[in-house]
Amino acid sequence: MKLLRATAAECAAMAQAHARAFEAKAWREDEFADLLEGEGIFGFLAEDETPLGVILCRVAAGEVEILTVGVTPAARRRGVALALMIAGLDQAREAGAAQAFLEVAVDNDGAIALYGLMGFAPTGLRKSYYDRGPDGFTDALVMRLDLNAAAA
Ligand SMILES: CC(C)(COP(=O)(O)OP(=O)(O)OC[C@H]1O[C@@H](n2cnc3c(N)ncnc32)[C@H](O)[C@@H]1OP(=O)(O)O)[C@@H](O)C(=O)NCCC(=O)NCCS
Repeated sequence: MKLLRATAAECAAMAQAHARAFEAKAWREDEFADLLEGEGIFGFLAEDETPLGVILCRVAAGEVEILTVGVTPAARRRGVALALMIAGLDQAREAGAAQAFLEVAVDNDGAIALYGLMGFAPTGLRKSYYDRGPDGFTDALVMRLDLNAAAA
């Protein structure tokens, strides 16, 4: 597996990985391209022969927000998300971020386990944050990591 710093050239592959990871909630290629032009936004693509996973982050005012991270079902539990998160947080530190934040659905046990492993801790709850269509709304857990204290 290799990690590529995301540029316009990676957007098609990023959208492909995101579609496999998130299915209905996936972001299109042009959405990735627009986001990457945004202030403080950067990302990485994990790939071997095919796109495996993607992360997008935004640094602002000394904080980094993980905007999205996803790995294709076939590539899961091989450390791809961990590698993407470490690359994203390293880049965020270089850009001056001291804290990291993310939101995750309260029922996303796998992602919460991954973030907990990295040292993220719950810091708040956003009620009815995710629209699950016919299944109603789901709360989001806000998780935080002190980047100066983190080993990752
Ligand atoms: C959550 C997600 C990104 C994890 O990607 P991944 O590449 O499989 O994660 P990793 O292999 O790097 O996992 C590292 C560690 O995190 C924990 N972990 C990851 N997924 C887990 C799961 N489904 N259940 C329990 N623990 C899990 C484990 O400790 C794992 O180490 P191990 O495999 O040696 O036990 C992936 O399942 C995914 O894309 N899910 C759909 C999209 C999504 O929910 N994204 C997050 C939105 S906030």
